[in-house]
Amino acid sequence: MSELAFIGLGTMGRGIVRNLLRAGHAVTGWNRTQRPLPAELDRVDVAKSIADAIRGKSVVWVCVTGPDAQRPVFDDAVLRDLGADVLVIDSTTTDPELSRRLARAVAERGSFYLDAPVFGSKAEAWDGRLDFVCGGTEATFTRAEPLLRHAAATVHHIGGSGAGATMKLIGNLLVVAQLASLGEALALARRAGLDAEALVRVLDVTDFSSGLIRGVSRASLRGDFAPSFYLRHMLKDARLIDDLARRLGVPLPATAGIGPLYQAAVNQGLGDLNASGVHKLLFTMSGLDAA
Ligand SMILES: NC(=O)c1ccc[n+]([C@@H]2O[C@H](COP(=O)([O-])OP(=O)(O)OC[C@H]3O[C@@H](n4cnc5c(N)ncnc54)[C@H](OP(=O)(O)O)[C@@H]3O)[C@@H](O)[C@H]2O)c1
Repeated sequence: MSELAFIGLGTMGRGIVRNLLRAGHAVTGWNRTQRPLPAELDRVDVAKSIADAIRGKSVVWVCVTGPDAQRPVFDDAVLRDLGADVLVIDSTTTDPELSRRLARAVAERGSFYLDAPVFGSKAEAWDGRLDFVCGGTEATFTRAEPLLRHAAATVHHIGGSGAGATMKLIGNLLVVAQLASLGEALALARRAGLDAEALVRVLDVTDFSSGLIRGVSRASLRGDFAPSFYLRHMLKDARLIDDLARRLGVPLPATAGIGPLYQAAVNQGLGDLNASGVHKLLFTMSGLDAA
């Protein structure tokens, strides 16, 4: 069993740590803000600093918000104190360029970095049913895979460093597009006076629907925007997708307006709702009550 340090005990980090503990691993955790952990995580040894958390560990697993959080975590702490032959797993959804930079910096210290972001949300993390998409060398992936499996439904080695981070952004392009189009569809249906139950019964069975659409429709129609994935994080991802497309010279004519939609939702104070809270904005823009 490995002795692990886990940096970032937020929504996803807590779920992943729960499954590592259940598999018998000893976990030392660090979170920027000290707050009580759920009872199932009471075996986590909570460290006061990242340096304390990672000292002597063979595995350091990071799951923080995005590039703005990774920079202080890595540049001011992990990279300063990292020893040799440590496996660094990073499940942050981030800029692939940053993943490659971190992989090089970790390699310079004689250690190994795997970008390993996830698909799935709060419930999938808690239940150990995440889909991991990984970037790194074959050897690093092979070393990480048994650990990832504790929290995984599936594990995918996409390619070299940054490939996991890129795959995550490709997937989230489809997520933001579906969420936005679903919000427009629900607003239009409500304005047209369609019966909500009849509408979702069709969405439940048709081939243009999806697990995401089926999962979100009923909640949005009853005005339930309780967060599993914060809307403000979706804005971060929309910007990362936009940056990637711009760098590669790929126009995104159908989805380029979605980032500004999320920005408007954050400006309206909806950032701490679920990402589907963008439907609340689309409803009010359509002259409807929030639901
Ligand atoms: N939730 C989902 O459904 C979901 C699904 C797939 C992927 N993801 C990705 O998983 C990652 C984590 O998401 P989450 O939902 O767990 O978010 P979260 O609940 O907001 O947790 C974010 C974590 O990052 C830490 N953090 C933020 N800024 C920091 C900084 N400057 N320095 C150090 N730590 C910092 C937070 O610490 P504090 O507690 O101090 O703020 C917290 O531990 C993100 O990249 C997200 O895009 C999330």
